[in-house]
Amino acid sequence: MKGRILKILRDKKGTVSGQALSDELGVSRVSVWKHIQKLQALGYEIDATTRGYRLDHSPDVPYPWEFPGRESKIFYYPELPSTMDTAKDLARKGCLHFTTIVAGRQLSGRGRLKREWLSEEGGLYFTMVLRPDLPPVLSFRVGFLASLTLARLLNEIFKIEVRVKWPNDLLVNERKICGMLSELEAEADRVAFINMGIGLNVNNDPSTIEPTATSLKMILGHNVSKKEILSRYLDLFETRMQSAAYDDVIEQWKQYTVTLNRHVRVVTTRDVFTGIAVDIDGTGALVLKCADGSKKIIHYGDCFHQSR
Ligand code: BTN
Repeated sequence: MKGRILKILRDKKGTVSGQALSDELGVSRVSVWKHIQKLQALGYEIDATTRGYRLDHSPDVPYPWEFPGRESKIFYYPELPSTMDTAKDLARKGCLHFTTIVAGRQLSGRGRLKREWLSEEGGLYFTMVLRPDLPPVLSFRVGFLASLTLARLLNEIFKIEVRVKWPNDLLVNERKICGMLSELEAEADRVAFINMGIGLNVNNDPSTIEPTATSLKMILGHNVSKKEILSRYLDLFETRMQSAAYDDVIEQWKQYTVTLNRHVRVVTTRDVFTGIAVDIDGTGALVLKCADGSKKIIHYGDCFHQSR
């Protein structure tokens, strides 16, 4: 009902009478008024007079009804320990492909290699439960597709140069703007689910804690809509996941990366390697050429670009 009321108010733009809303929605005027009050309590600025209702401002909060067609698959929480934990519970209970858990902020946000992920108000923090039709050995493609799709979308919306860094960070001018974390559960020959968690710095300022990080607001100088980014991203990523183009995702990703032909330091759970990143192989692994001429194939780790 909230989504339908908002749609009418947005389509008509000006003031809509209580009677017109009640006729169009097929509910009483009292019921309309109760829903309006709930929307107001959630941050929607709705001017209510004897002439009717006018929507003046919507909060930038990804409430489920802001995602027509996906309402039942969006779970929004103002605050969570980590969207990864909630996603895992829902995935194990059998939730649908592309169920998405979004948090306004996270109290124990998790990064890769057991790091903490600062998740203050203003950033976009979400985890998608994905059930791709892929054997576990090809599941790495999903992470590459997720980062490539988001980089392209941010380039398109904001006209900024977003690039990908192995394995799936997003950078702008060498500063990290987004990190991704994936967790997989599989049976012998089939992926049960991949939970893809994304932390995008949008209207927050991460540089006070992490000097090498940036956000969309820091780059553009103004706030932008998290709701719009999420809505467009889910639509685009879901479409891309269905398409055949996904077969050559590594090749496409390589066109978008700033990791190749760079001196890098790669930290894995056990070792630290340095060398020149010469390729991303067909399994998504980083191929490193070490100083002694040997090659190292690294499947999982964190990569730090050294100054040129
Ligand atoms: C990294 O770069 O180390 C990965 C960061 C991933 C952060 C996101 S925010 C949403 C989801 N929930 C978490 O606790 N982590 C991921």
